[in-house]
Amino acid sequence: MVTEINTDKNRVVRHLAIIMDGNGRWAKNRGLERIAGHQRGVDSVTAVVEECLKQGIRYLSLYAFSSENWGRPQDEVNALMELLLHFVRLQRDKMLENGIRLKVIGDVSKLSCPVRDALEETMAATSAGECLTLTLALSYGGRDEIVRALKKMAVELCQGELSIDALSSELLCGYLDTADLPDPDLLIRTGGEKRISNFLLWQSAYTELYFTDVQWPDFNADELSKALQDFRQRNRRFGLIDEQLTSEQKEKCH
Ligand code: FPP
Repeated sequence: MVTEINTDKNRVVRHLAIIMDGNGRWAKNRGLERIAGHQRGVDSVTAVVEECLKQGIRYLSLYAFSSENWGRPQDEVNALMELLLHFVRLQRDKMLENGIRLKVIGDVSKLSCPVRDALEETMAATSAGECLTLTLALSYGGRDEIVRALKKMAVELCQGELSIDALSSELLCGYLDTADLPDPDLLIRTGGEKRISNFLLWQSAYTELYFTDVQWPDFNADELSKALQDFRQRNRRFGLIDEQLTSEQKEKCH
């Protein structure tokens, strides 16, 4: 579990999370099928991964398919799963070359066997990657993640492996899908909406939020640089006051 909070005064983004929104509207505005927007969205994913490597960002988490997205028309769900399958297979060697570790969060039991197998294969192959952890949120919902964590804890409580006195927010972090990730420093949402939509609810308690009207297929390295520049102007206090954040105590704040 990573509990340390990043209060670096240089405003370094260690963990970037992105809600990639606007694919459907991007396509509609061009008289194209929604899936064309998702296809172009994959190019943006590739561009952002490359830029994260250049910028030294260590963790990138992408909201690729929410637990609610299962309710979309079956054609769109199938097309998204196909894109994902291709991405994971095609990018495997590039991930290995660039020291990228692939990780997945969400209720993967709902994914089809071919998708699960491809993910598992690439995750195993890239597990030693040390430059960037690329986390795909698939069949993911923040509330669902918390409930699944609570269920695991409840089982251990019933079996006497956990005591009520041991319960704490730090302990709960260790049961979440993101147990080995730091909390996000910056969450970007493209596409103009200003909400979190059930992404990393627990983890984004002190995350800086950045909303842009740019639709995901148009998001690129320049747009990412703008977001990072904006982040550098922020004053993160984690519920404390400035003076405290200059002291050693800052490492302990929540
Ligand atoms: C939201 O746009 C986007 C999604 C639900 C899927 C995101 C998927 C990709 C970018 C491609 C596949 C991902 C990877 C990692 C290979 P929307 O469809 O809700 O757009 P809208 O709000 O304009 O309708």
